[in-house]
Amino acid sequence: MSTITRVLSGKDGVGKSTVTALIGEQLALSGRKVLLIEFENGLRTLDMYVGATQTKIYDLDDVLNGRCEIADAIANSSLSRNLDVIFAGNARKDLPKDQFEDMVLALNENYDHIIIDTDCSEESLDCITGITMNNLVIATQDIPGIRDARYVCDRLLSAGCVGVKVIFNRVNRDYIAEKITPNLDTAMDLIGVPLFGVIPENGDILNITARGILPKSKTITRDIAKALASRLEGETVPLTVL
Ligand SMILES: Nc1ncnc2c1ncn2[C@@H]1O[C@H](COP(=O)(O)OP(=O)(O)OP(=O)(O)O)[C@@H](O)[C@H]1O
Ligand SMILES: [Mg+2]
Repeated sequence: MSTITRVLSGKDGVGKSTVTALIGEQLALSGRKVLLIEFENGLRTLDMYVGATQTKIYDLDDVLNGRCEIADAIANSSLSRNLDVIFAGNARKDLPKDQFEDMVLALNENYDHIIIDTDCSEESLDCITGITMNNLVIATQDIPGIRDARYVCDRLLSAGCVGVKVIFNRVNRDYIAEKITPNLDTAMDLIGVPLFGVIPENGDILNITARGILPKSKTITRDIAKALASRLEGETVPLTVL
């Protein structure tokens, strides 16, 4: 049985795919069998972040519309043989959501973790709510970012979702010191769900998104990715930054 995790946000571009790739790679390196799915309407990116670009012809849209078998759309990441990925379709059109839940459940026995990188649409928020064990909401620490994340958390909680937690991404200490953005305690109070992790603004991250690789050496990004992965496995890991 897989641990099924959704990564969501209130705004586009706040780091959902980055966090999905970071956690997925760490879990895979620790020996877990991991599947990442980019649940998006067009404009895929996760394939690039995990070094699997152009390794498969078929994508999620093909699976959900019956144009291929699920196995035909599962690509292996160059980051680890334990890490698989199903790409988002390139066409901007609605995905058949009922079939998506069936697809995830059909893969349940094959992986230790299935992590779904979900777009921000209202329809996606309401999708697969009953089968996810973790719902990680990525938020930036600015006031509009906090407000939108709060909205998503409220929606998830009222839909009965479990494991709703927030990850603050692109956290900038200078902005907090200059009171441009609220500090962590205030931000958490405003969002109102437990904290899962904190990721600072970090140039390392651009290596992942540009080249599909993580920094080899011991870096803050690696430590944070390991901590996030361990927490997903139920371990208690103290915050290492800020
Ligand atoms: N902590 C960080 N420090 C620096 N850059 C970051 C950080 N997190 C994400 N980024 C950058 O932000 C950009 C958007 O990240 P990403 O693609 O993960 O967002 P997303 O939420 O998946 O976007 P979309 O909503 O379009 O799917 C990328 O260029 C990535 O490199
Ligand atoms: Mg994305």
